[in-house]
Amino acid sequence: MNIIEIKDLSFAYREEFFALNDVNLTIKRGEWISILGHNGSGKSTLAKLIIGLLKAEKGEIYVDGVLLNEETVHEIRRKIGIVFQNPDNQFVGVTVEDDIAFGMENLNFDREDMLNKIEEYSKKVNMFEYLKKEPHNLSGGQKQRVAIAGILAMNTDIIIFDESTSMLDPKGRESIMEYIRDLNKEGKTIITITHDMKEAVNSDRIVILKDGKVLAVGETNTILNDKETLNSSNLELLLPLKLLYKLDEANIKNEKVKNILWQLSLNK
Ligand SMILES: Nc1ncnc2c1ncn2[C@@H]1O[C@H](COP(=O)(O)OP(=O)(O)O)[C@@H](O)[C@H]1O
Ligand SMILES: [Mg+2]
Repeated sequence: MNIIEIKDLSFAYREEFFALNDVNLTIKRGEWISILGHNGSGKSTLAKLIIGLLKAEKGEIYVDGVLLNEETVHEIRRKIGIVFQNPDNQFVGVTVEDDIAFGMENLNFDREDMLNKIEEYSKKVNMFEYLKKEPHNLSGGQKQRVAIAGILAMNTDIIIFDESTSMLDPKGRESIMEYIRDLNKEGKTIITITHDMKEAVNSDRIVILKDGKVLAVGETNTILNDKETLNSSNLELLLPLKLLYKLDEANIKNEKVKNILWQLSLNK
């Protein structure tokens, strides 16, 4: 069943300029989908519309069969956790601990449970020693870790990560991506938003946004094989994919080499 259905969705911050234009997309329960697109393609806008932070000009969003509107927005937000692109927007508390607790407080978790979860999730993102610290003194990457812990602790059915690992070093990024994979295996619906193809290759499906429109949507392998679409997406292509495309253009047919490049593109 589809957990999210987006129908003919359009949104404009200002007149005559649509940040999103007639977007149609369905997301299946339990899948991991990447929203991939160049800077300014409308990814964050789409995420904010899905959680009802912005109101659509036109179109509809259904979450778990419920139409998103002013009456249902609170019910829907209980089902979706979002790690925002800029972690500063996520911080309201005096300490790191307060910030991890914030989402759980909104969902009325009991205190005992909350304290256990704060410990568990701060350890998961390697921020346990920082619980009593003030969030504004943290680095960007540390803030991202804290934001991730707070959202994970809420245990929502759907989690949206909006460029949530952009400030982490490669090792930190890999460990969060691995964790995202585990969450998905446990049954969570995952939406990862990124402009970095490398971060999209492990998801089940990819939707490519370009200038506010859906350029393509499909299984990850299919999208990565779609040279024309990728070339027109304004995205930076992964190096092995670039090489693979070059071999094709030069009519070089070494299947072994191609296979190696393909595996590299898929991060394997
Ligand atoms: N608060 C805002 N006010 C006006 N325009 C905005 C605002 N936020 C985003 N935009 C514009 O909307 C478009 C889509 O932005 P955004 O959804 O943030 O893209 P992405 O997340 O893919 O980088 C861009 O042209 C951006 O400049
Ligand atoms: Mg964005």
